[in-house]
Amino acid sequence: MKNYLYCNGISEKYLGKEVVLNGWVKKNRKLGSIIFMDIYDRTGIVQVVINEKNKFFQQALSITKESVVSIKGKVVLRTNPNKELSTGLYEIELDSIILHSKSLTPPFLIQENTDGLEDIRLKYRYLDLRRPNIQKNIIFRSKVIHALRTFLIDNDFIEIETPILSKQTPEGARDYIVPTRSKKFYALPQSPQIYKQLLMVSGFLRYFQVAKCFRDEDLRADRQPEFTQLDIETSFFKQEDIMDLIENLMVHVFKTVMNVNLTIPFQRIDYAYAMENYGSDKPDLRYGMKILDVSKYFISTKFKVFSNSLNESKTIRAIIVDEIELSKNQVSQLEKFAIDNNAKGLAWLYFDGNKNKSGSIANIVEEEIIKSIFDDNKIKTGTILFVTDKKDIALSALGAIRVETAKMINIKYEKDFAFCWVVNWPLFEYSEEEKKYVSAHHPFTSPTLDTIDTFDKDPKNAKAQSYDIVLNGFEIGGGSIRIHDHQVQSRVFRYLGLSNDQIKEKFGFLLNAFNYGVPPHGGIALGLDRFIMILSNSSNIREIIAFPKNSSGYDLMMDTPSNVDEESLKELFIKRV
Ligand code: AMO
Repeated sequence: MKNYLYCNGISEKYLGKEVVLNGWVKKNRKLGSIIFMDIYDRTGIVQVVINEKNKFFQQALSITKESVVSIKGKVVLRTNPNKELSTGLYEIELDSIILHSKSLTPPFLIQENTDGLEDIRLKYRYLDLRRPNIQKNIIFRSKVIHALRTFLIDNDFIEIETPILSKQTPEGARDYIVPTRSKKFYALPQSPQIYKQLLMVSGFLRYFQVAKCFRDEDLRADRQPEFTQLDIETSFFKQEDIMDLIENLMVHVFKTVMNVNLTIPFQRIDYAYAMENYGSDKPDLRYGMKILDVSKYFISTKFKVFSNSLNESKTIRAIIVDEIELSKNQVSQLEKFAIDNNAKGLAWLYFDGNKNKSGSIANIVEEEIIKSIFDDNKIKTGTILFVTDKKDIALSALGAIRVETAKMINIKYEKDFAFCWVVNWPLFEYSEEEKKYVSAHHPFTSPTLDTIDTFDKDPKNAKAQSYDIVLNGFEIGGGSIRIHDHQVQSRVFRYLGLSNDQIKEKFGFLLNAFNYGVPPHGGIALGLDRFIMILSNSSNIREIIAFPKNSSGYDLMMDTPSNVDEESLKELFIKRV
């Protein structure tokens, strides 16, 4: 293959030699009788000097920033080395230059600290991708995916692609639908779930895929309508085997890509424990500040709000912000959070180790109660934040407040990467929207052996053989052991409200496959974008995707979703209304 010299390849071995470099012009300035032109590529920057006597002097002077050039010249030592650059000891004395393509002035500064707002950066994403930090993220992404692939291939996994034009899959989000000329529709896959199970029926034993998934759901900083999963399925593996596989995969990736040694096994936390102590099914374990059940301290309080609450069988939960006196302003921001998370308010006070000093209930609540709470939790002083409500509301509100408070006070992390598995999930959860129980993971998840006979009679207590992997408070993956029995799968579908005809129409092919020898199987999918966002310390998933949609699901560069021509609509039997 062609021996190609990258900009950062300039080193001592080229000293005195003639080289050819290709790149984009970063800076081009004339100082006295010399032009200093910095050129860059994805590897680095090199300074080129052009003497007044060079016949390309005038042409070089007119070359605008971000134009693409090839230069030929001799590598020499710089009189003033630049310690900031890896090539800073050297410069190239220009011999000749070819201008391949001239650039207009870019709409924003192409550098790490740009003046471009996100919308304009996304519109000109191909320029934004030239910025070193974004480019670094995309290259980092490639390295992570390479390491994941290597590990899986070395462990006998086979990479198999599955269709994008597919059928509706029940992963819980809205589908993207593709109309066809046959007046029928494809759906884009929310995940390759059913295909990968069928690949187990086919006998592949261990499958993986870097799979594109599509979900039409409300977007957040860690969600895109089109995202990538590392999708895995195995036959004859039990839950612990899959968790062990993923832990070893993580060890490999962290070591290969970041030279970080992880300790495994990761902590396993019951779903119920996570909800009770962190108010979340994806607890951030980089810091403590657990939610406390403080109801028992207030049984005979004079503070009416709390005593009434307990009389109504509600609960009082709290978090203590150790050693910190939050300001009124900070608490009122947190209160907004509480209300957004369905709580009615946030009561608080600062305790100085002796007495209630300040805060909304400082003068109302008995000091000895607060002192007992602090003493029992071995905390001397700090701000205590209370929510009283029905248990699930109090917990989820305080869960959100816990995360927000940690950000607000810039909490000191006990570690950089806190992994855990959340296990012992319920099989179903009650949907207030649909007014019925729905699958907590998806309908292919196997109930635990002790609830397999009763899940449809006692859905509230049915447990799932499923597991989520959480990193720094983000759900980076989820999976389960699957149902591989025709009867059990049909019972789940029926319990979820599907008629026999609907089952046949939607999942007949899967149930039929289960009649031809199906191994017990299970798997997982890692959300690669989310995972890479955390590893690269990015604050938004868009920073690590080459061509992301904006926060409204819109592609500003292509300007799409967009209209299609009438002819195409006609062919598809679609009428605009
Ligand atoms: P699940 O729905 O939990 O499981 O998805 C797996 C992981 O994918 C990531 N993820 C997303 N990332 C970015 N944008 C989104 N809109 C988005 N939605 C999900 C999350 C999540 O943990 N078929 C099952 C897996 C299995 O059972 O094997 C599934 O898709 O990190």
